[in-house]
Amino acid sequence: MSERTKQLLDRLEREHTLSLDEYAALLRGWTHEDAAYAAEKARRACDRVYGDAVYIRGLIEVSNICRNDCLYCGIRRSNRNCTRYRLTADQIMSCCREGYALGFRTFVLQGGETGESDIDAVCALVLSIKAEFPDCAVTLSLGEYPTEAYQAMFDAGGDRYLLRHETADRAHYQSLHPPDMSFDHRMQCLYDLKRIGFQVGCGFMVGSPGQTVETLAQDLKFVETFAPAMCGIGPFIPHKDTPFGGEPAGSVELTLYLLSILRLIRPALLLPATTALGTLRPDGREQGMLAGANVVMPNLSPPDAREKYTLYNGKLYSGAESAQHLAELKQRMSAIGLRVVTDRGDAKSG
Ligand code: 5AD
Repeated sequence: MSERTKQLLDRLEREHTLSLDEYAALLRGWTHEDAAYAAEKARRACDRVYGDAVYIRGLIEVSNICRNDCLYCGIRRSNRNCTRYRLTADQIMSCCREGYALGFRTFVLQGGETGESDIDAVCALVLSIKAEFPDCAVTLSLGEYPTEAYQAMFDAGGDRYLLRHETADRAHYQSLHPPDMSFDHRMQCLYDLKRIGFQVGCGFMVGSPGQTVETLAQDLKFVETFAPAMCGIGPFIPHKDTPFGGEPAGSVELTLYLLSILRLIRPALLLPATTALGTLRPDGREQGMLAGANVVMPNLSPPDAREKYTLYNGKLYSGAESAQHLAELKQRMSAIGLRVVTDRGDAKSG
């Protein structure tokens, strides 16, 4: 492996920071050995903070109705081939009950962005979940809202909020989104969420159209400075009914290398091995864990909702991806020396 890459990885492991140029250098011309070296360090860093624990979250895809028209996303507003649905509060509570019985202590309510009309319903739902399951964490992943709405969701008992920044480069952000979405507003939402007190997750796709070593270096710098509790990354996967339907998928190897680098930047970061990773590789989730990830988010949505929540083509929703197959997930994790735990799985400070 190159001496320069080794030096940079060694320093990142010690100091948890590099310059933008150094991050870019890490991502330029790296080899398989570089990635293996990074993964070994990342796994060790993860072990020091989290040991062999793998945290699980039950993912409930509450609705695929979305007001946004992101160029990469299968549930974008202008996709007429997408059959829209929205779960009722009763259906969502049933998912939580089923999840609780399976051992889940975090529920992630994820859905398309529907705007201000939904705030009261979201708050009511969070209150009900927290009343019935006081020992569980509720994570919301519902897009951009005004500060007051985030505050109301927090006051209702929301613990965590996931809002991927998608890319930390302004021009790249604009090229992935229509003109009515703004990079500044996205960033403002993330800072608002953090100030309000949510444990915040950001994240980005790997291999999205127009992504470069330089834009990725900015993503890494952003994670370093924003210091989120979680960062979700997964390969971009084209969806045929989007403007990016003909673009190539992102690289699994690069995703794994980035997971390792993120682990070295923030050893206590919650890093999920995402569904997109599992979709491109049958053992993607295991590979993710071995590269430094420590979270999996199996799907708790009702079966017909899963089929309609198609962010990209080929999205997995059965097997170890499904919450009902927790035994398979546990067995697959134990095969690589890790142990699925069923507490809330909060971020540690280490
Ligand atoms: N490929 C991979 N990930 C995608 N997402 C949306 N569309 C795609 C796609 N085509 C990701 C976005 C979004 C999250 C919910 O899913 O990063 O924030």
